[in-house]
Amino acid sequence: MTNAPGIVTTLPELRARTLAWRRAGDIIALTPTMGALHEGHLDLVRLGRTRAARIITSIFVNPKQFAPHEDFDRYPRALADDAAKLAPAGVDLIWAPAVAEMYRDGFATRVEVDGAAAGLETDFRPHFFGGVATVCTKLFSQVQPDFAIFGEKDYQQLCVIRQIVRDLDLPLEIIGAPTRREPDGLALSSRNAYLTGAERQIAPALNRALAGLARDVRAGLGIEASEAKAREAILAAGFAKVDYVAVRDATTLAAIGPAAPAPDRPLRALAAAWLGRTRLIDNIAV
Ligand code: PAF
Repeated sequence: MTNAPGIVTTLPELRARTLAWRRAGDIIALTPTMGALHEGHLDLVRLGRTRAARIITSIFVNPKQFAPHEDFDRYPRALADDAAKLAPAGVDLIWAPAVAEMYRDGFATRVEVDGAAAGLETDFRPHFFGGVATVCTKLFSQVQPDFAIFGEKDYQQLCVIRQIVRDLDLPLEIIGAPTRREPDGLALSSRNAYLTGAERQIAPALNRALAGLARDVRAGLGIEASEAKAREAILAAGFAKVDYVAVRDATTLAAIGPAAPAPDRPLRALAAAWLGRTRLIDNIAV
């Protein structure tokens, strides 16, 4: 029988708990989430468990990373269910502040990132990485973990977080965890809950198109031609709109340019596309 992890909602409580652990010399890992947890999130926790004595999972639906027309209001919230899932995974503490605790009256700071944040998601959600960077910088300062674990599912986000930590000399290590997929290839995401039955059947085509793109690039088809072919495959499968399909440098996310990339250069293929009202993203190593 596993004990349910405690839930703390105020900064003084969080500080008291983490201070005691730090004084005891415990290594602390943070897994930041917005809740509505699935096996992909639990993988982050399990990975943390292999390296840290203490795991803190934050659950906070961050209003600053949603534009007014996006799904902040309907984003699934399930704190009691989430706590029940986190207990067997070995989480010690859930940090679940209310919006007014995270952003107290008069809050007026925003962390803006360039570099890895340029293009891709930013072309379609220009507010997004500023919101993510702001909340993650606050989470790192609140929890002061030795390391934090983010899923590769949000690959550009992972690169942006690494950029922030490097640029601001933040004293923690960022670890990426592989994407957890359904047997048909669909990447696990809290937003998959929005899909209708028919859309759920179509959804794995995004991953199949990226796998085809990676094969085409490896086989020597040019990057632009491979991207165009993947875009067509996604639309032909029944997606309504493709925001982007792109092959980028796997570390910096810089565009590759017209010349063939060096064979040993790590590349990443990333895509975002709309299935009805739901926007799905995915990526794979090329
Ligand atoms: O990936 C997410 O769930 C969120 O963007 C994060 C990192 C928890 C910040 O709100």
